[in-house]
Amino acid sequence: MLEIRPTAHADIDSLKQMYVSEVEDHAERAEAFAEQLTTKFRTLLALHDGRLCGTLSWDTRGGYDDGVVELVGLGVSSAYQRRGIATKLVERMIVDASQFYSDSGYALRTIILFMERKNERARKFYSQTGFSEVAKIPRLYPHDDAVIWVRHL
Ligand SMILES: CC(C)(COP(=O)(O)OP(=O)(O)OC[C@H]1O[C@@H](n2cnc3c(N)ncnc32)[C@H](O)[C@@H]1OP(=O)(O)O)[C@@H](O)C(=O)NCCC(=O)NCCS
Repeated sequence: MLEIRPTAHADIDSLKQMYVSEVEDHAERAEAFAEQLTTKFRTLLALHDGRLCGTLSWDTRGGYDDGVVELVGLGVSSAYQRRGIATKLVERMIVDASQFYSDSGYALRTIILFMERKNERARKFYSQTGFSEVAKIPRLYPHDDAVIWVRHL
């Protein structure tokens, strides 16, 4: 069964393990990843039968009246990809961000995100999920340009 819920401090160890098995075997960076996801951003976790298999981090951008959020990070463990988990994480982020803005008397209007230009898998995902690729920032990342995607609600 798939559960999607906000992260909590108790998730730090699972997040570190996910980083080590999915990204790189580097304890300090795994620690920083887990710390960022639990303290810096608003993060949603996907758990399959209680096992962590995906994360999505987001944050507001600009004033509340702008109604803009940035999707800061999204990842699904390789063994769980192509099962609709990232799609469900994005849908839940929209629900939570819409609630956040309506609680303050405003509305969520736009989601933006930055992506490495050569990330073809993510390009296919975002183009299937209602986002449009709108701009390029040359050399934003150490080894690639960035592209900006936008979804208006
Ligand atoms: C991009 C990513 C988050 C997608 O996660 P996912 O859970 O597999 O995505 P979904 O199952 O919800 O995919 C929805 C649709 O996106 C498209 N899509 C997703 N991954 C795809 C792939 N590898 N190849 C082609 N199309 C793909 C498909 O249209 C898919 O629908 P379908 O499976 O019915 O054909 C995942 O591949 C990932 O974690 N990649 C590594 C990290 C990353 O690049 N994150 C984004 C950085 S900005």
